[in-house]
Amino acid sequence: MCGIVGIISKHNFSIKNSLLKSLKKLEYRGYDSVGFATKDGTIKKDIGFIDPFIEKTKDTETNLAISHTRWSTHGGITITNAHPHANKEKTIIALHNGIIENYLEIKQDLESAGYLFTTQTDTEIIPHFFDYELNKKKQTMQKAIQEFFKQVHGTFAILLILKNQNILYALKRDSPLVLGIAQDKFIFASDIYAFSDVTNKAIFFEDNEYAIATQEKFTFYDKEGNEIKKNVQEFSWSKEEESKQHYPHHMIKEIKEQPETSNRLIQSFATIQKNRIDKLVQLIRESKSIVFLGCGTSYHASLIGAILLSHQGINCRSNIASEAESFVSYDKETLCIAISQSGETMDVISELKRAKAVGATIASIVNVPYSTIQRFSETSIEILAGQEVCVAATKTFTNQVIVMLELARRFGYKINMQTISEKIKQTITDNEEKIKQLAEELCRKKDIFVLGKGMSYPMAREIALKLKEIDYIHAEGMMAGELKHGTIALIEEGTPVISLVPNDNKDMLSATQEVKARGAKTIIISNLKDKGDIIVPQSDTAEFAIYAGIIGHLLSYYIGVLLNVSIDKPRNLAKSCTVK
Ligand code: G6P
Repeated sequence: MCGIVGIISKHNFSIKNSLLKSLKKLEYRGYDSVGFATKDGTIKKDIGFIDPFIEKTKDTETNLAISHTRWSTHGGITITNAHPHANKEKTIIALHNGIIENYLEIKQDLESAGYLFTTQTDTEIIPHFFDYELNKKKQTMQKAIQEFFKQVHGTFAILLILKNQNILYALKRDSPLVLGIAQDKFIFASDIYAFSDVTNKAIFFEDNEYAIATQEKFTFYDKEGNEIKKNVQEFSWSKEEESKQHYPHHMIKEIKEQPETSNRLIQSFATIQKNRIDKLVQLIRESKSIVFLGCGTSYHASLIGAILLSHQGINCRSNIASEAESFVSYDKETLCIAISQSGETMDVISELKRAKAVGATIASIVNVPYSTIQRFSETSIEILAGQEVCVAATKTFTNQVIVMLELARRFGYKINMQTISEKIKQTITDNEEKIKQLAEELCRKKDIFVLGKGMSYPMAREIALKLKEIDYIHAEGMMAGELKHGTIALIEEGTPVISLVPNDNKDMLSATQEVKARGAKTIIISNLKDKGDIIVPQSDTAEFAIYAGIIGHLLSYYIGVLLNVSIDKPRNLAKSCTVK
């Protein structure tokens, strides 16, 4: 998490219109606090979102500055803990995305050497470390950087400047970092999106590399200080409509875009993405076992994929990436399919590295092109959902599930993909008003249970996750059969229980009766006319997952509206989790 942008230019640029405008594009990576530093040693920072910060910032011009939007890991959300951080004299200024694991040891050493720490962050060791190397040990900057790579454990993308010097230093291990090459400037950022309106030329950092940029040129080095040649990649990035248009929130705009975004993806399977899908199908056929890896909403989509492919006789499983180490061992015959909207989730990347190290094959399903996970993969399907601004995933989830359906179809699963987009539209138009009423009923509830079975179990989890992340309501997505083994004790008079009942599923109907008998207020989502409180289009069980998901997304949205919460940027979250 955290987004970073640094610019070194031949000409002066505006802090507000250039630096912070780029940083704003990375706000999805975290929005606890924001800050920047300029070459002359000025540091400005504040807590909260970027827009109000931009508003109150007095614009200045400079040819070198760095900036940061934070998702807190070490140290609370305070102005002091906001980045950038500096040494006492404010001559060495740094900002950081990642986690320095041995920061306490390094801090102790630096404290013994007389350095005073004023923040609770791990990042603060960076300016003091460089101060010690440069001013006490009289090392050159190059040697100091190499020493940093040697001594520091953990993950980092760091931008560092020295007061009044026209040089920008950029260091990377694990956390994403990319250099954008524009006509008169070099832009270092967490991803290409930060500068996609300025240039389409980029160099991606690999682990344990650093770069030194002046106004005229940049040079890359490995961690031992050997100069390395890097390839400049030209990328294409379609300029997306980022405004909310007439919608009050990005979330509802993104929910309502789904008929188009789903159709774009479905049509791509026979056209622009045919080769990629063919390649993935071939890799699945050639592998002994398939392991899906994902986190959050993407994990839910991967569960549907694992169920679908298992039904087609493929040895397949899905794991939450951050826990996979405890459950999964890989070998040369394993195919890992990472599923990730951002393509940057650190828990997934770490697990892919573990798999790759023993020879497993890596494939992925991502939304963001050129992302780390895509670049790590032998083949990568793009879900073509377009930019998703709301932190909670909606249209990207639907498209992830559609990829799963297409993969299953390639292995014999019977489905008409061509009617999905129309049915998505119908799901929204038929149910939006009803969902607004249901939201009125549910918005004051403390606990909501969501029950599913088989293919609808991942949906139960997904709907519950949305109620938690958007509405801050405690919600549990349960396997219906597990309910009676404990959780049913929590059902009281009026407890809301949402049951996902595709095609009159008998077990789901029984579970619903069991909670009803104990006073629960049940809400049945069904795909059969007159068989539920919310009816989605006729479909089989796997397709039902898509429409039920959209109901859940709409419900959490309209509850959020009633609760007047920060729908597009919920508290404590970030859209891209680039730390473990
Ligand atoms: C974060 C986001 C979730 C997302 C998860 C996985 O936690 O807030 O909405 O589902 O990361 O992200 P990915 O980009 O890998 O799909």
